Amino acid sequence: MSDRIVTGWKPHFAKVWSKETVVIDHSLHTSPLFSEEAIAELIEQTPPEHYNLATMGHDTKRAEWREGIVGGASGKETMEAIKNGRLWLNIRHCQDFDPRYKAVLDQLFEEFEAHMPGLHTYKRNMGILITSPKCQTFYHFDLPGQHLWQIKGRKKVYIYPNRDPFLPNIDRQRVIMKETREEFPFEEWYDDYAEVYHLEPGQMAYWPLHAPHRVENEDCLNISLTLEHWDTDVRNLYAVHYGNGVLRRTLGYQAGNHQPYGFHVYPKAALSLAWKKLGMERKTVFRDEVDFKIDASKPMGLADIPMMAKA
Ligand SMILES: [Fe+2]
Repeated sequence: MSDRIVTGWKPHFAKVWSKETVVIDHSLHTSPLFSEEAIAELIEQTPPEHYNLATMGHDTKRAEWREGIVGGASGKETMEAIKNGRLWLNIRHCQDFDPRYKAVLDQLFEEFEAHMPGLHTYKRNMGILITSPKCQTFYHFDLPGQHLWQIKGRKKVYIYPNRDPFLPNIDRQRVIMKETREEFPFEEWYDDYAEVYHLEPGQMAYWPLHAPHRVENEDCLNISLTLEHWDTDVRNLYAVHYGNGVLRRTLGYQAGNHQPYGFHVYPKAALSLAWKKLGMERKTVFRDEVDFKIDASKPMGLADIPMMAKA
């Protein structure tokens, strides 16, 4: 792929990158790699450990979330079920099993790095999200830098401040130290403090590090990419909150400095490394259980199956 992917870059984006939300035009919605047909083929090539399929309720507070499997459905049937149902399919780490998507991922980060000398990204990751009309992703935050790239359909993205009370430090530390998953309570009044973006095909959004967010689809099939990366700021912010978490767990000390820069970063990074080396990080394995499979002939595109552990 030789054409430019990041088409709407403006020089001032470099000044606010990972600190303020930026919405940037891109060209991936025109790439044949992300057409409905190509995604249907990709679904059939996706190893079972590379996807999560879910259906969810209508409450914004995560009242209902069930995981399922594609089962024997073809790619086309899966797309059909998603169009008609309330389903969320996340094909994870596409770059690890399909070199065509790895090439796209590498090119777009190289473009960002060319625009921002000094930016060095690693642990780059691409997920492809295929989601039903009106479906939602619940309130959460992500440890790496996370971008949402819109390919098809429209969605409303709510982005909240990455600080108390929207993201209490104690909850952030628990997620970072793997004591819990990347989810925590959401209150409806948080919306009064949210930035809201209506993403269209050909637009991507990148928000401040650790900013909690949630997403609602409009009444149409959505194909989107979630891209993740690590860089110095991501790593330092992770180390500071990890180190603060270790201080809380061992000494009961509530550290007040959460900035990803300054002299306190290095001892906290060393503390987090020591904690891991001592084997103190919780080895919790979050195992998903599934209780439905795709069935395009059913009104909601799914059929119940006996509950079992996902492969
Ligand atoms: Fe996210």
